Order: sequence, then C-alpha cells, then structure tokens
Amino acid sequence: MHALMGIESDLGDWRRTHHTSQLSSSDDEVTLMGYIASIRDHGNIIFIMLADKDGEVQLVFKKHDGNERIFSLAKSLREHSSIAVKGRVKASKQAPMGIEVVPEELKVLSLAYSIPPFSVYSRTFPSIDVRLDLRAIDLRRYYMKSIFRLRHKVLKAIRGFLDTQGFMEVNTPKIISTASEGGASLFPVFYFDREAFLAQSPQLYKEQLVTAFEKVYEIAPIFRAEPSRTNRHLAEAISVDVEEAFVDYRDVMNLLESLVIHVIESLNSGAKEELQALKLSINTDRGFPRYTYTQIVDILRSNGYKIEWGDDFTNEHLQFLGDTIKGYYFIVDWPLRLRPFYTKNKDNDTSIAEAFDLMHGDLEISSGSTRINRKDILLERLKMQGLRTESFEYHLKVFDYGMPPHAGFGLGLERFLMAITGLDNIRDATFYPRDIDRLVP
Ligand code: 4AD
Ligand code: MG
Repeated sequence: MHALMGIESDLGDWRRTHHTSQLSSSDDEVTLMGYIASIRDHGNIIFIMLADKDGEVQLVFKKHDGNERIFSLAKSLREHSSIAVKGRVKASKQAPMGIEVVPEELKVLSLAYSIPPFSVYSRTFPSIDVRLDLRAIDLRRYYMKSIFRLRHKVLKAIRGFLDTQGFMEVNTPKIISTASEGGASLFPVFYFDREAFLAQSPQLYKEQLVTAFEKVYEIAPIFRAEPSRTNRHLAEAISVDVEEAFVDYRDVMNLLESLVIHVIESLNSGAKEELQALKLSINTDRGFPRYTYTQIVDILRSNGYKIEWGDDFTNEHLQFLGDTIKGYYFIVDWPLRLRPFYTKNKDNDTSIAEAFDLMHGDLEISSGSTRINRKDILLERLKMQGLRTESFEYHLKVFDYGMPPHAGFGLGLERFLMAITGLDNIRDATFYPRDIDRLVP
C-alpha cells in the first residue's frame, strides 16, 4: 500500500461554486475543483496551480496560518492529483491571474500516484508515442487542450454555417456491404453470418438522401485501412460530408470556400483565447485560386518534375506545390480515371471529371465532385472500374425513381484542423488516433 493512501476523501456533498475562469476578486467564499497543474513548495509557503476545464488559479497555503492540518495535507500533494478546496478569493498583484485563493478546507479526491513524463505547461514533447500511450493525461497539457477546444469551435462553426445554408444533419450506416471509394482500403467485419465492411465514406447514402432532403450533411467517422505510416493518414478519421441536389461541383466549391472562411472568421472572433495560447494568427482571403489538373501538371513539368497527364500526384509533387502555392487552393477537372466511379465527367469531355480537391499547401483537405445521376452511365462506370454491379443493386435502384442532379464533398476534419493550427502530425488532431500500429488507448 502507498504511504499516502488514506488521505483521500469522497466528494460527499461538496459542489463546485465556480470554475476558475469565472473567479473575480469580488468573489468571497468559493468551492473549486480540478487537478494540480504545478506545485511550488517554498518551505513555509506552498503555491499550487489548480486547473479545471477552462482555466487555472493559484492556491496559497501558509504554514503559520493557524491551519496546520491543511498545510501538511498540501505538503503531501503531487501534481495531477484531483482536489477540491473551499476558500477565500484575494486580489494579488503577484498571482498569475491577479487573484489567488486561500484555502480553508481541502479535500484530496484522488491522489496522483505517478507523475507523467511531461508537464501540463510543456508545448511539445519529443515522442508522440509516449504521450499517446497516456493520452487522457497528455490532453491536460494546455497546448493540447487549446487544440481540442479549437476543434470544438470549428465543429460548432461548421454546423452553424451549414444550418444557416439550409442543410440538415443526417447519420448513415457505418457497417456497410460495399466499397464506395475503391476496394483496397476496406476494413472487413463479421456481420452475423455475412461479411461486411466499415464505411470508407457515407458517399452513396448521402447521395440517396438528397432525393428526399436535397441538402444534407454528416459529421462522422470514416474508416480507411491505410497500411502506410504517414503524418496525414488515420485508419479512423472524422469527415464532414456535404451533399446537395440541383447543383454542380462549381456550386459546392463555392459553398466549401465560404464554409472555410466562415470557420476562420468564427475562430478569430470567438476563439481568441485558444488562438493566443497556440500563438496562432489565421486569416484567408475569399477567392481561393483554382488550378486545373492540367495546369498543375504543366507547372510541375516546367519545374523539372516527371509526370504524365493522367498520373496522380506523388508526395514529392505535392511538396513542391505546397512550397509554391501558399494557403488554400483548388485543383479542379481531374482525369476521370483517377476519381471514384460515382463522379460525373465534363459534358464535352469524357476523360475529365467535374471533380476538385481543396488543398492547403501540400495537404489535401477535401475532395468533391458533381455526381452521376443517370443509372445507365453509373452502370457503365461501375463496369469500367471493374466493380460488380450486383453488389450495388441496393443503390442503383434508387436511380430508377428520378435522381436529381447533385454534387458534394467530404472535408477531413483532422486535416482541416492541421491546416488551421499548423500541426504537422494528424495524430495530434484527434483524441485517440487509430493507425496501423495503434489500437489502444
Ligand atoms: O478524398 P476522399 O477519399 O473523398 C471521399 O471520401 C469522397 N466520398 C468525398 C466526396 O464527397 N466526394 O476523403 C475525403 C477527405 C479527404 O480529402 C481527407 O481530408 C479526408 O477525407 N481523409 C482522411 N483523413 C485522414 N486519414 C485518412 N486516411 C483519410 N482519408 C480521407
Ligand atoms: Mg481525395
């Protein structure tokens, strides 16, 4: 048994009166709860930073305050322990927030028996794997906390924007029977007595849903069995999928651009604290440049890169583009054979797709397109891509009942967060990353 066991108490009927962010010098008696971010023990005086969900405050314990029991309890505390205090708020010029709290009662709710190998104040730590192994505690670091608070505000802004544009939030099945984005990266699962797969994308379902609802979006996990170890691929990612009827890819590109700008403006007005904590200033102008695939191939060639028209871009190509074109830009009008079967070709050209990628530097943030809305053409494309049309019967039959023209996109939430924050590893843009090497925590 640990020497300090026995000093812990239950919550009982103690309830928090304030979060630290709500404190002001006019408050008198307060009850605070949280974890210990740091301890500075000067012998007869101990300063403890108490952190809670959105702030921190300094607690001061003095030996000769006539409360020996609390002082000796404070002496035995360790960083990260979960505590509750009742005390008085005092203005203090020296304290980090201009106020401090002098505890009159202290409860140790749960003592930290181990000290994590990183401080809550450290901005970076060399090994991401050490942090991920202890992810819940890693998220107590202010840097990570700010990233995820920002993520929350990004999601809120996305929902707000799509709502004002008349889109309805939907949910589609994550256990599915067929691939939509190509067969190689599917996770098979046992589904009772059949084989099924984890959804790579809500693609076919969101297309079906525009028949009734016209404007839909879904924010949900997508699953990709990515065997590669990169800093931009997860096996489970969150996708913001948008689909709209009676429009084409140009309309949804405009929508996506407005969405990105709306999110950035919302953060600039509503996430000042997080942006400051992350030392970020973000801005972007309307009118993201639009390059055709063919123009990009020409740019690459004239800079000495080898690429044939019809080839996909390699990492080397993307890196060059990222160094050359700053900020957000679209690559449009892709070779049809590089895009999934549901993608519509340009009216006057069967080799070019009405498709786009939204890029930020060398990072693909989103892909989208006009979709095929005619069954005969969809059947032809399925066959061209060597897919079994019988497997798509459930989807194809919807096209017998008047499928409106439609277009949409999928925006990778983690990738978008990387673009906003400058994070260089996608694992830090998700709470509990899943990749080829990691299934826990
Ligand atoms: O480009 P993707 O594969 O396109 C689709 O899934 C289409 N159904 C979208 C559409 O509506 N046409 O995926 C969309 C986005 C990518 O641009 C990327 O941002 C993100 O999802 N994404 C991933 N993010 C992290 N890890 C992965 N393995 C990802 N795969 C895709
Ligand atoms: Mg893509």
